[in-house]
Amino acid sequence: MRVLIATEKPFAKKAVDGIKGIIESAGFETVLLEKYTDKADLLKAVADVEAIIIRSDKVTAEVIDAAKNLKIVVRAGAGYDNVDLAAATARGIVVMNTPGQNSNAVAELALGMMVFMARNQFQSGTGTELQGKTLGIHAYGNVGKLVGRKGKALGMNVVAFDPFITDAKVFEADGVKKVDSVEELYKVSDYLSLHIPATEQTKKSIGHALLTSMPKGATLVNTARKEVIDEAGLAQALTEREDLKYVTDIAADTQAELNEKFGLRVFGTPKKMGAETAEANINAGLAAANQIVGFLKHGDTKFQVNK
Ligand code: 3PG
Repeated sequence: MRVLIATEKPFAKKAVDGIKGIIESAGFETVLLEKYTDKADLLKAVADVEAIIIRSDKVTAEVIDAAKNLKIVVRAGAGYDNVDLAAATARGIVVMNTPGQNSNAVAELALGMMVFMARNQFQSGTGTELQGKTLGIHAYGNVGKLVGRKGKALGMNVVAFDPFITDAKVFEADGVKKVDSVEELYKVSDYLSLHIPATEQTKKSIGHALLTSMPKGATLVNTARKEVIDEAGLAQALTEREDLKYVTDIAADTQAELNEKFGLRVFGTPKKMGAETAEANINAGLAAANQIVGFLKHGDTKFQVNK
């Protein structure tokens, strides 16, 4: 059996070595495709493999069609919006993610980005502190929880909303206050950390109305997905409210325009940065390799997302 590691944005070498070790000790072969720039390279590489490990690489219907022997795709990370689940399911291909494995890296970056914006992107001028500010967490999953915990350690008041968690005790157990609606969350958050996935329901759901309801001087921190932002609404809100800020590790489609118009009030990293740590690569990459071995050898489908 052949396992392809297809990573346009490569894992750290230690992670690649670890993945190979797991796959090869199980008696399988690894194939490595890194830093590819042409979709044709991916289509060629998938042709004769049974399993694929990806990051944000796009596994479209075309890729699935080209992968005639494919049994399993594991997204080494949380969000699997880059995989055409319907096409995979139609072919009986198992799709998994590795939830929680890169969460700490993303959470640390979210807090780092808050400090970065509070200190004027490390340019001159008087900044502000995070202590005493209200940190709102939009979606209380693995990353949201860690952001809350780290925010509390910095002396922030942490509040959260998650459409799928109605029991206040889940939040209270972490010393976090549950708010009852998205609208209420944005209204009270000096820093709003976004952790919603990109789905048909959430795409373009964060825009002008929510942003302009935020307190004076508020910052929206997006380490989730660029697709959840209504970029026209964001630009409008930043125009009307000269106190608002936006920071993201997934540059907006209109990032160059935002930078030009709003200067130090906006910032976007050129490549998705949240999970870019050696630790996260190792955690997620090795988990992906173990999940593939578990599935191919024992039929283990614990982390399957298209059941
Ligand atoms: C995730 O969904 O796990 C993160 O967005 C990380 O994506 P990456 O593997 O492309 O860095």
